[in-house]
Amino acid sequence: MTILIDHLHEPGTVEVEEKKVAEEQNELVLDAGFLVPKTNAFGHTFRDYDVGSERKDGVEEFYRINHINQSYDFVKRMREEYGKLNKMEMSIWECCELLNEVIDESDPDLDDPQIEHLLQTAEAIRKDYPNEDWLHLTGLIHDLGKVLNLPGFGELPQWAVVGDTFPVGCAFDESIVHHKYFKDNPDYENPAFNTKYGVYSEGCGLDNVLMSWGHDDYMYLVAKKNNTTLPQAGLFIIRFHSFYALHRAGAYKHLMNEEDIENLKWLKIFNKYDLYSKSKVRIDVEKVKLYYLSLIEKYFPEKLRW
Ligand SMILES: [Fe+2]
Ligand SMILES: [Fe+2]
Repeated sequence: MTILIDHLHEPGTVEVEEKKVAEEQNELVLDAGFLVPKTNAFGHTFRDYDVGSERKDGVEEFYRINHINQSYDFVKRMREEYGKLNKMEMSIWECCELLNEVIDESDPDLDDPQIEHLLQTAEAIRKDYPNEDWLHLTGLIHDLGKVLNLPGFGELPQWAVVGDTFPVGCAFDESIVHHKYFKDNPDYENPAFNTKYGVYSEGCGLDNVLMSWGHDDYMYLVAKKNNTTLPQAGLFIIRFHSFYALHRAGAYKHLMNEEDIENLKWLKIFNKYDLYSKSKVRIDVEKVKLYYLSLIEKYFPEKLRW
């Protein structure tokens, strides 16, 4: 059984069900079976909170480690390192296939390849919004940042790749899942970071807000720095699709500007299809591949720096 951590947002259904399975089987298999390495991209040991011994609640343990380590300083360092885009050179489609391959190898229980999940999201959107081709492409690529888990990308641990995201540099909102674990985050007692606005100001715009590090922000940086022509709403969706405190709970509105308010409407639409992507609808990859290649060509350079 695989626990797809970044799809554990629906508190009443998906989360409880998958937690139950994890508990029954007493296992911690995060996000398509990737293993949790002990060192970060720079060869340093991450703060070790004894992940291995406490597996009775995989999801809660995941968020405990996530909340302790995702600090303002950590995010700054990750953005700086990964913003260099010096890990790899490849096309968008090659990245889809890369993600696909690895998940196939590491998780024999996942019957659908990852690329089908990406295409399920994209195709479902395409059906309902046939004219918004940028949104179809956004569906296809929004999770590509999960390559952060792979050896060529620093093999980041799960807590630095998936899960719900949240702003750093200001107070952690109570609506963030397992909020209690923030008390061991170094920023929690820091007066520069633990007020409503922290280092930010009213209506400063989410563009100026640092988010906990993971596949969302990484893919956003990759798209932006490779000069994508995707509309702002597409970039917004990529960067904030795991920001459930915002798009589910309505927190942090005081940091938004007018453009964010517009983009949030699209994010809410997108989110429905993101959750739907775990459905059992089979997609014939070869059948739709040409369409998505044409979108990639329209909105991205042939090769991207990652
Ligand atoms: Fe995601
Ligand atoms: Fe997703």
